[in-house]
Amino acid sequence: MGTPVNIVVGSHVWIEDPEVSWIDGQVLKINGKDAEIEATNGKKVVANLSKIYPKDMEAPPGGVDDMTKLSYLHEPGVLQNLKARYELNEIYTYTGNILIAINPFQRLPHIYGAHMMQQYKGAPFGELSPHVFAVADVAYRAMINEKKSNSILVSGESGAGKTETTKMLMQYLAFLGGRAGTEGRTVEQQVLESNPVLEAFGNAKTVRNNNSSRFGKFVEIQFDKSGRISGAAIRTYLLERSRVCQINDPERNYHCFYLLCAAPQEEIEKYKLGNPRSFHYLNQSKCYELADVSDAREYLATRRAMDIVGISQKDQEAIFRVVASILHIGNIEFTKGKDIDSSVPKDDKSKFHLKTTAELLMCDADALEDALCKRVMITPEEVIKRSLDPQSAAISRDGLAKTIYSRLFDWLVDKINNSIGQDPNSKSLIGVLDIYGFESFKSNSFEQFCINFTNEKLQQHFNQHVFKMEQEEYTKEQINWSYIEFVDNQDVLDLIEKKPGGIIALLDEACMFPKSTHETFANKLYQTFKNHKRFIKPKLSRTDFTIAHYAGEVLYQSDQFLDKNKDYVVPEHQDLLSASKCYFVSGLFPPLPEETSKSSKFSSIGSRFKLQLQSLMETLNSTEPHYIRCVKPNNQLKPAIFENVNIMQQLRCGGVLEAIRISCAGYPTRRAFFEFINRFGILATEAMEANCDEKAGCQKILEKMGLHGYQIGKTKVFLRAGQMAELDARRAQVLGNAAKVIQRCVRTHQARKHYLALRKKSIYVQSRWRGRLACKLYEHLRREAAARKIQKNVRRYESRKAYKELHVSALTLQTAIRAVAARKKFRFKKQTKASIIIQARWQCHKAALYHKRLKKGAIVTQCRWRGRIARKELRKLKMAARETGALQEAKDKLEKRVEELTWRLQLEKGLRVRYMFCG
Ligand SMILES: Nc1ncnc2c1ncn2[C@@H]1O[C@H](COP(=O)(O)OP(=O)(O)OP(=O)(O)O)[C@@H](O)[C@H]1O
Ligand SMILES: [Mg+2]
Repeated sequence: MGTPVNIVVGSHVWIEDPEVSWIDGQVLKINGKDAEIEATNGKKVVANLSKIYPKDMEAPPGGVDDMTKLSYLHEPGVLQNLKARYELNEIYTYTGNILIAINPFQRLPHIYGAHMMQQYKGAPFGELSPHVFAVADVAYRAMINEKKSNSILVSGESGAGKTETTKMLMQYLAFLGGRAGTEGRTVEQQVLESNPVLEAFGNAKTVRNNNSSRFGKFVEIQFDKSGRISGAAIRTYLLERSRVCQINDPERNYHCFYLLCAAPQEEIEKYKLGNPRSFHYLNQSKCYELADVSDAREYLATRRAMDIVGISQKDQEAIFRVVASILHIGNIEFTKGKDIDSSVPKDDKSKFHLKTTAELLMCDADALEDALCKRVMITPEEVIKRSLDPQSAAISRDGLAKTIYSRLFDWLVDKINNSIGQDPNSKSLIGVLDIYGFESFKSNSFEQFCINFTNEKLQQHFNQHVFKMEQEEYTKEQINWSYIEFVDNQDVLDLIEKKPGGIIALLDEACMFPKSTHETFANKLYQTFKNHKRFIKPKLSRTDFTIAHYAGEVLYQSDQFLDKNKDYVVPEHQDLLSASKCYFVSGLFPPLPEETSKSSKFSSIGSRFKLQLQSLMETLNSTEPHYIRCVKPNNQLKPAIFENVNIMQQLRCGGVLEAIRISCAGYPTRRAFFEFINRFGILATEAMEANCDEKAGCQKILEKMGLHGYQIGKTKVFLRAGQMAELDARRAQVLGNAAKVIQRCVRTHQARKHYLALRKKSIYVQSRWRGRLACKLYEHLRREAAARKIQKNVRRYESRKAYKELHVSALTLQTAIRAVAARKKFRFKKQTKASIIIQARWQCHKAALYHKRLKKGAIVTQCRWRGRIARKELRKLKMAARETGALQEAKDKLEKRVEELTWRLQLEKGLRVRYMFCG
């Protein structure tokens, strides 16, 4: 692999590194065949020039979607590309036709879902990003167009994502071939829902995968003429039976046991179950729960799936009753009985479980005890019942549990198949294979042997398909081609399956001899394959053997090979259960035909598996295969961890690197002349002329395009990697240009039509709009005028009101001031009048006083005067009275006169006083 490139000082290169597989660096010095390199981790390394590879410094940082597009195709380039893509959550990458899928260990809903399916539907392969839907789409289209069956082979190690990928493939095929809008249970729904049912009974948590499928599966989806799903068949391979009785910490037994223990309370009571910790078959490991999984919910989901698949409620009840019975069987312990080498249930607890098991399986409790603790020996003379010691009884018990479980699993598969139904008229099918990948652990037993045998078979199929067929084609077409060497594994397959003399045949032989042990079996292997280059006898062991598989050497421990290969039901168990009163249990153990039960009790799992594989390979050989290689990026089962060494190993085992090498070295693309001209004729129209023959036409096209390195065979054109893409790109360009012209005209016409309509409409809209605006403006003006009027009136009213208030205030003020002034004036007048009066009074008073004094003075004067005159007269009278008698009279007259004057004086005085008071 790799492109020969000159490596000089300063070149960027990849060198091998024990920790990260490949590390990049720059060449500092070159000494002959060695180069000194400074790696990016700072280390200086000296490496042979043949072991270093150039690094593509111009490679796109996000990687390329097809490895064959890499400029430098070599291991580190491939690894780097996968890594760069994985970091961007691009988990799918093509390698030619092979899809590499790296487990993201996280949900990526954006790349699945209905919208994605819609996008991939009918899209040419390679046009969209690599995807499992694209592979399914190619298979489906090929099936429809070529009326040929296709198969999709999904492989990878445990936890790499095979089952998830398979489910997605099935979902997509159901999407393509489903009956849209159909109500009720459709075939595709049943096919999809068979997955949760099989997973509940055939999957378990292991250290490598929390939902590890412990069986292989090949699902054939049958399609009718119109491409609709019309039936399906599920074939399963090699269920891991030993898990039922024996589990290692921190693994779990099959999911169904834990689901049943988490079932609704009435079912728990019905089956006398309880906490999984109380059952021997479950409590050998301390792991009971799965992170983020609710067993109770899963139980209900499984029941729902069973409904959809078509398993009746009655059958479901019987299934879970049998599952419960297996848990109870596991709790039956044995102790020594009265007789030597005999056994009986250990205590009351064991008796209880024995009784419950018998109840659940609807068989006789004593017969069950006998079947577990005794064996019937048939000698020519008589039938003897032999007791088993406690240890053998426990083995017998476990054997019974395993047999029941594996029969139950087979029943489920049959039931699903019958319920979905096969379409006898179907002409084409798509098979999806989800089968265990190559396994090599510290300790490898019969299961690993069978699994690796399967992978050898599949690898050969892969080889045949990718390499052999390719080379045959080149030969057939008589093109110049130097054979590329590839590792053919036919010799390993011969070692394992050849009849007679292969390992499986020898194992069967050993199983049939009662005295054989694993040691004798191993010795036989050592002898037979002494010189086989694929078989190695380890120096220090007497029972182990190593097989050099295509993916590496695996050391097998032969200890349990014999036991695990024997597949026969102990007749006592068979009789017991076929006599069960439960139709379901007796149905699991139908009575054997007379002759088989007598003639051979032995049937070999290895041989049966070999036959199954043969039949699978026949099916696969009759289909067009598509390969998906699943890769597990790390053993922690966590997202975003990319372990280089681990991944490199998986790519090697999956044949991906080999396929890349071969594919790129050869002519990965080929087309029949007619097809080629049909497709690429538009690149050189002269090639389409009537008198030009097809071969010459192809030649013309290729020459015109200036391609080199292609070959023209008898009927086909052979292109180097990437050339098809280049031709397609040119074709797309020509078609694109033509399409552009058509589009331009159509668009112009449409645009003008649209424009005119738009203009008319816009004018109409404008006029309406302007009218509306004018109305609005008028309304606005009208409102403004009205507002002004209202304002005017309001203002006037307010001014008037203010003026009135002011006026009234002024008047009030004026009145008040005037009142004050008037009052002041009045007071002044009053005061003046009073003073005048006072003055008048005073003056009056003064005048009166003066008058009075004057009057008094006058009166006094008058009085004095008159007195004086009176006295002068009196004296004259007194003198005349003296003068004799005449004088007396004169005297009386005078006295009268005085009296009258006195009275007048008195009157004057009274008048004067009254006058004074009156004034
Ligand atoms: N495309 C995917 N998207 C998200 N998670 C995935 C995807 N593929 C695999 N996983 C995760 O990886 C786990 C293991 O995958 P899966 O069960 O398909 O492995 P497997 O190859 O079938 O292993 P086994 O051989 O043990 O059955 C799944 O339970 C799931 O969590
Ligand atoms: Mg699986």
